[in-house]
Amino acid sequence: MPEAPKSGEAESIAKQGIRAWGRSGYSLAAIGDLARRTLPRPVFDFADGGAEDEYSLCRNEAAFAGHELLPRPLNGAADRDLSVELFGRRLALPVIIGPTGLSGLFWPGGEIAAARAAASAGTAFCLSHGSTCTIEALAATGVAPRWMQVFVYRDRGLTRAFVERAAAAGYDALVLTTDNQLLGNRERDIRNGFSIPPSFTALQILGMTGKLPWLLRMRRELGRITFANYAKPGETVELAAIAGRMASLLDPGLSWRDVDWLRGLWKGPLLLKGILHPLEAAEAVPRGIDGLIVSNHGGRQLDGVPATLDALPAVAAAIDGRIPVLLDGGVRRGGDVVKALSLGAVACLIARPQLWGLAVAGEAGVARVLDILRRELDRALGLMGITRLAELGPDCLRSVRESLPPDRIR
Ligand SMILES: Cc1cc2nc3c(=O)[nH]c(=O)nc-3n(C[C@H](O)[C@H](O)[C@H](O)COP(=O)(O)O)c2cc1C
Repeated sequence: MPEAPKSGEAESIAKQGIRAWGRSGYSLAAIGDLARRTLPRPVFDFADGGAEDEYSLCRNEAAFAGHELLPRPLNGAADRDLSVELFGRRLALPVIIGPTGLSGLFWPGGEIAAARAAASAGTAFCLSHGSTCTIEALAATGVAPRWMQVFVYRDRGLTRAFVERAAAAGYDALVLTTDNQLLGNRERDIRNGFSIPPSFTALQILGMTGKLPWLLRMRRELGRITFANYAKPGETVELAAIAGRMASLLDPGLSWRDVDWLRGLWKGPLLLKGILHPLEAAEAVPRGIDGLIVSNHGGRQLDGVPATLDALPAVAAAIDGRIPVLLDGGVRRGGDVVKALSLGAVACLIARPQLWGLAVAGEAGVARVLDILRRELDRALGLMGITRLAELGPDCLRSVRESLPPDRIR
């Protein structure tokens, strides 16, 4: 397992990172640009890309531009409370780090670094099934709240083992991802010849002089990176072998029966991730699901599905406040969080931006990403005249579609 940088180390890396981004790491998009310059193209594209024509990927971000904020500054919002209560815990920020497989490809011990940044910011971190550290290794750091993301496999015993390990390691919530039972067709990865673990031709390495810091940082890691949760204790598992097997492990027959089974297995909060349809959302409530994540997997799975922000209002209406609805996909600004919460989400998750933060400065980079979002959200609320997140609602927004001809909407 790759080792996460120790705390002191992280601080010095932080300083290096901050020096490295200088005046350019002022927004999530700017940190994304730095990550683009830091990472080899196939690695950057692995995170950045979506499925097929990337329609849904593009729509996720663009949908936020389809809404304008309607401020009421005379409300006088001198003090703003950004905290939100979720599953009995108060988070300092309505932004959670979503699950991303292979975060350790972006920074040594990437998952642990990102989880530490989330905990310091007072928010939750969701570990991916495909993490490069184990469920137990992340738990051993004591970061909290920590959530665990799982799949349903053809071999239900494998799913059961993940769930039991998460329970034994004290995870606070379980997230079942429902939109990944067949692997998306990610054409950038095909074009770049991206493989797991990444391997580069001599010619590619020659063209990578600008990527030298990443190569040096990762030189000891690359050969060792693995989907750590799939290795039995004491066993080393070839990453390429697991990656190849992954498609056959997943069960495309996933259904509500499996959700019921999982509900019986996991006693804590259980969330479904990948919900877009209001009927599916409504079905989750009588089945005892505790929360939904409106998600299209960042446009990486079924291309052609709606932007998550566009799908959110119907899902929120179907749920009608009975369980929390969260949203991910394209959240890049504090103002985006305001829009998602106004349309019915209680919190958002971010995925790519935390990978960009990791690529630039590890834990400090993710801390920077969260801090930018916190400051942007706080400023937006202050200018909107909003004191508490619960005050946000559809009356805080105006749809751009009401005023612009369709060809003027991104
Ligand atoms: C590199 C990468 C790996 C991901 N791995 C997982 C995963 O293992 N499990 C999962 O449920 N979602 C995974 N996702 C999807 C994210 O959790 C999330 O739904 C989506 O990326 C959110 O959109 P955003 O990247 O625009 O913030 C991954 C996304 C990326 C970019």
